[in-house]
Amino acid sequence: MSISEATKKQGGLAGVVAGESAICTCGTGNGLNYYGYAIEDLAEHCEFEEVAYLLQYAKLPNANELKEYKSKIIASRPLSVELKAMLKLIPKGVHPMNVCQSAVALLGTLEAEKDDFSDQDEKIIRLLGVLPSVICFWHNYINGGKEIDFESKEDTIAGYFLEKLHQKTPPAEFVKAMHCSLILYAEHEFNASTFTARICASTKSDIFSAVAGAIGALRGPLHGGANEAAFGLISSFDNVEDAIAGVNDKLANKELLMGFGHRVYGLGGDPRNAVIKKWSKALSNDHKLFAISEAIENVMKEKRPSLPPNADFYSASAYHFMGIPTEYFTPIFIMSRVSGWCAHIKEQRANNKLIRPSSNYIGPEPMKFIQIHQR
Ligand code: CMC
Repeated sequence: MSISEATKKQGGLAGVVAGESAICTCGTGNGLNYYGYAIEDLAEHCEFEEVAYLLQYAKLPNANELKEYKSKIIASRPLSVELKAMLKLIPKGVHPMNVCQSAVALLGTLEAEKDDFSDQDEKIIRLLGVLPSVICFWHNYINGGKEIDFESKEDTIAGYFLEKLHQKTPPAEFVKAMHCSLILYAEHEFNASTFTARICASTKSDIFSAVAGAIGALRGPLHGGANEAAFGLISSFDNVEDAIAGVNDKLANKELLMGFGHRVYGLGGDPRNAVIKKWSKALSNDHKLFAISEAIENVMKEKRPSLPPNADFYSASAYHFMGIPTEYFTPIFIMSRVSGWCAHIKEQRANNKLIRPSSNYIGPEPMKFIQIHQR
């Protein structure tokens, strides 16, 4: 049995166009746009909720629409008694990605979507509102037994998450940086987790099942989990000299450098990187980890110019400078990307065809069956 040349070329479906979408351009020579709006403009001028609205309804909200949308998200923050009880049973040491996945699966049971999906927009708003509460409730309960409430003066997901995680009012600068990060992570075409969500939606399954599946795909270090893994790399070095030597060693050993490379972007790199790098620098207060990050980036630029940093590389240090524990880096990605997943679920449903590709068979020729007592 051997993998054919054709299969090798298309390994991981690289370069395969798997459908049509009006939501996002990614690596198509037109920068990264959500419904036509450049990511740079959205990241500079918008709150995350404006972008979530854009992804949900295919248009930017006006001031009144945004106000109403935000108040619906705020009303969706509280956890039910059952959800809290389930979270309290999950022991310390479990990865919070699994916590989020379990919570979304339970929501699908307790607050099931209607069979005709007529309430899908309400469910999207519920997911946007509830996910930060899930993460912060579990974090505070598991680290000190505190059951947090869901009241807050913070009227955005960015501010609410930071306040509830740390149980204190976040600095305005952190909230702005968090909006930017959530916007950058919100949508990215047919990436692995979004494609997972679309496959699940294509079977006419419910939105919670599609999102729970997407969370599973996001968790891995080749996808969303790369921000956590990139921080592991950066923080493994004590100083710039060690970082330069260490990265050179890793390249010589053919190790993967987390936070570098991308399936779709070419040499031009990931357009999100420049935006989040600015925030990482601004938040760093000259912390050595920023200098170490830049040193790693420079070695990669010199030795592997075809592998520029992706959005995950500087997100890692930016989150760290905000005091966020590393295991919550990828759950933040969920809080954001759920908006993109749900946009794709809606798009898939609007023109549905079951996603069911084929494979090249490379197994044995037909064989004569042998009864168990003769084997
Ligand atoms: N460090 C070192 N070498 C690398 C890296 C890297 N980060 N990425 C790719 N390569 C090498 C790879 O080993 C291979 O070398 P060779 O041809 O000698 O075998 C060559 O480059 C081609 O790599 P590939 O794995 O075939 O490329 P891909 O398109 O399948 O991989 C990727 C894309 C993102 C999975 C990969 O670049 C990677 O593993 N990067 C590190 C993980 C990471 O940062 N992931 C986040 C992706 S972007 C944000 C997101 O989706 O969450």
